[in-house]
Amino acid sequence: MKTATHCAVLIFVAIIAACSAADGGERPYRRSFINPYPRYKFYEDGVDPGEPLFLTPLIHNSSMPREQVQKLARVVGSQYHGVESYAGYLTVDKGFNSNMFFWYFPAQQDADYAPVVLWLQGGPGASSLFGLFTENGPLELDAHSKLQKRNYTWSKTHNLIYIDNPVGTGFSFTDKDEGYAKNEKDVGRNLHEAVMQLYELFQWSNSSGFWVTGESYAGKYVPALAYHIHQVQNAIETRVYVPLKGVAIGNGLSDPLHQLKYGDYLYQLGLIDDNGLQSFHAAEEKGASCIKNHDMECAFNVFDSLINGDLTNGSLFSNLTGYNWYYNYLKTHDNSGENLGQFLQAGETRRSIHVGNKPFHDLDKENKVELHLKHDVMDSVAPWIAELLAHYTVCIYSGQLDIIVAYPLTRNYLKQLKFPGSDRYRVAPREIWRIGGEVAGYVKHAGHLVEIMVRNAGHMAPHDQPKWLYEMITHLTHYKH
Ligand SMILES: *[C@@H]1O[C@H](CO)[C@@H](O)[C@H](O)[C@H]1NC(C)=O
Ligand SMILES: *[C@@H]1O[C@H](CO)[C@@H](O)[C@H](O)[C@H]1NC(C)=O
Ligand SMILES: *[C@@H]1O[C@H](CO)[C@@H](O)[C@H](O)[C@H]1NC(C)=O
Ligand SMILES: *[C@@H]1O[C@H](CO)[C@@H](O)[C@H](O)[C@H]1NC(C)=O
Ligand SMILES: *[C@@H]1O[C@H](CO)[C@@H](O)[C@H](O)[C@H]1NC(C)=O
Repeated sequence: MKTATHCAVLIFVAIIAACSAADGGERPYRRSFINPYPRYKFYEDGVDPGEPLFLTPLIHNSSMPREQVQKLARVVGSQYHGVESYAGYLTVDKGFNSNMFFWYFPAQQDADYAPVVLWLQGGPGASSLFGLFTENGPLELDAHSKLQKRNYTWSKTHNLIYIDNPVGTGFSFTDKDEGYAKNEKDVGRNLHEAVMQLYELFQWSNSSGFWVTGESYAGKYVPALAYHIHQVQNAIETRVYVPLKGVAIGNGLSDPLHQLKYGDYLYQLGLIDDNGLQSFHAAEEKGASCIKNHDMECAFNVFDSLINGDLTNGSLFSNLTGYNWYYNYLKTHDNSGENLGQFLQAGETRRSIHVGNKPFHDLDKENKVELHLKHDVMDSVAPWIAELLAHYTVCIYSGQLDIIVAYPLTRNYLKQLKFPGSDRYRVAPREIWRIGGEVAGYVKHAGHLVEIMVRNAGHMAPHDQPKWLYEMITHLTHYKH
């Protein structure tokens, strides 16, 4: 009897081991590094999803009152607990039929004067609705997949917008292969068009100011949009003026040449030994020389086999450490995200946010957005950040426990950056940042740069430390620096 039970337990354990191995094989995103977000499964519940709402022709129809268009975009449903919001499609390129999906939450306090904040997820190819529901939006899903109000949301003090970016991500789509972004100029141009249309529709005041924020691969997107706005508005009279004030980038990949320095970090953390360190150094040197030779395909492949693992079977990092999770060095894996995929694809949700039956692209199968951006991944936006630093507030914040875009890697690129204030940055004193008597992190100021390390947070810092990040963004957008 005893032996039989013992055997049954062993078999059970073996089955679990076999299942999780199969699971890992079918879901390569678990090894994906620059795309730290869960990718979702296809889901359809047969509920009528309604029709997609294309707002651009309505916004540009002068005989249609703005209030009427806003009313059409209004998201209605008892599941939202009375939280006011608007959603729909903006056509950003008519020729390719490229359309961007947005979801906008007016500020809960003083909406007429609240700063306008755009949040962009990374990936490439991760839906910004991930940030909405798991990081800083007014609603989150509880353990029973029901929406609840979030205690600390950036929409309390900001007019908060989420856009699925670039086209082909989440609910955003394009009809043509040429519609996909191939570089950050494409990204900046399409986002600028979407933001101008949102200003036409919602008419936020100039005095409140516009801020671009985001995380991870949005370390490229955020500067791309801000730089595009800066350039266009200084060169020509634009259809719509966007009162850009600054940007905030969380654990952002912006300057891969100077951020490709994992070996020393992992060695100091004790996650690799001297042999591992040698292998990392060799690969990092190779990656740097690919970048210097402008061979971005080669650089992508080095990055992929070193740590990313999108197109490689087992990166050096996962082989040496056994980690399947790169966003917090205290965790080797993470299995959250399943219920968000179902919620977003449910007919009732689709109808309420006006996407109809348009495909949700953030699935675990293909990632056309990343493939089109393959040569962009290891390219740098550092010169754009330097130019922005001459005119606008630039906040670079880093969750302390992240690996993929770790704090010392980001420090390394900032130290190389030439901008008004770079000399001061090198010697700037570090201040302890306290909230309610707790040490939230450390801050450095130099010129328009605000550099922050957020203590006890991983890659998704607003999820890990919601109160501190809420205080951080509110302080940044409401006070002079
Ligand atoms: C503009 O809106 C008016 C009023 O709703 C409508 O009658 C007209 O057909 C619209 N024009 C276009 C070009 O869609
Ligand atoms: C939100 O705040 C309420 C009231 O202070 C508290 O009971 C609850 O635990 C908080 N929820 C989370 C997820 O922190
Ligand atoms: C905002 O500022 C721009 C540039 O100074 C100006 O052209 C525009 O009319 C202003 N818009 C509003 C709504 O005041
Ligand atoms: C990775 O492994 C899978 C299954 O073993 C195989 O089908 C695939 O071709 C491999 N990919 C690469 C890039 O080696
Ligand atoms: C990781 O291990 C796998 C399986 O042994 C091997 O195929 C792969 O080449 C290794 N990856 C690297 C980058 O060394």
